[in-house]
Amino acid sequence: MMKALTAGVGDEKFEKSDGAGAMSYPIHTLKHEHRVIEQGLRALAGVCLRFSSGEPVPPEALAQLLDFIRAFADRYHHGKEEAYLFPALERQGIVREGGPLAMMESEHQVERELVAELGRDFEAYQAGIPDAHWRFVETAGRFIDLLVGHIQREDQILFRIAEEVLDQTDQASLSAAFKQAEAEIGAGVLENYERIAAELERAWAA
Ligand SMILES: [Fe+2]
Ligand SMILES: [Fe+2]
Repeated sequence: MMKALTAGVGDEKFEKSDGAGAMSYPIHTLKHEHRVIEQGLRALAGVCLRFSSGEPVPPEALAQLLDFIRAFADRYHHGKEEAYLFPALERQGIVREGGPLAMMESEHQVERELVAELGRDFEAYQAGIPDAHWRFVETAGRFIDLLVGHIQREDQILFRIAEEVLDQTDQASLSAAFKQAEAEIGAGVLENYERIAAELERAWAA
């Protein structure tokens, strides 16, 4: 499950939409968020490896990982794609039904169901239910596989389409919408999640 998770977070930094000089390119911001999410996925895979070798994992670490997945990967990142990127692509003629947009949206939906299931597995683990950690490992495996593939499909297909079809006006309004989303999540919160993803990866990735 980890073969596709070898890339690290390096060159790309969060593109601040209000940076002076050249306008930030919103697709770069989304790509950078993918690298941050992959750090969380590597941590999750490491946690599963511990479970698989019979080692317990502190509930606090699992809770932090789940919070990162829910708040950063799902609500913030997928939320921005759904609210701003997908509609912008649709306005430029990318068909929704039967195309990449419908596919990405349905993957977000499956991902949400798996996150909810992971949450239930975590609660069962906390409650000391025997073998709950095995269910967590099984759900986490499905979640990682789905999200790794999803991120690849966006990076390699959807974002390439976006780079071709979005004009300067689209990019400017996406940048403004992302800036608004950053403001709504709160000052310093993004940097905090970025730090948490790096810490979780350091602590748990195999
Ligand atoms: Fe997505
Ligand atoms: Fe994405």
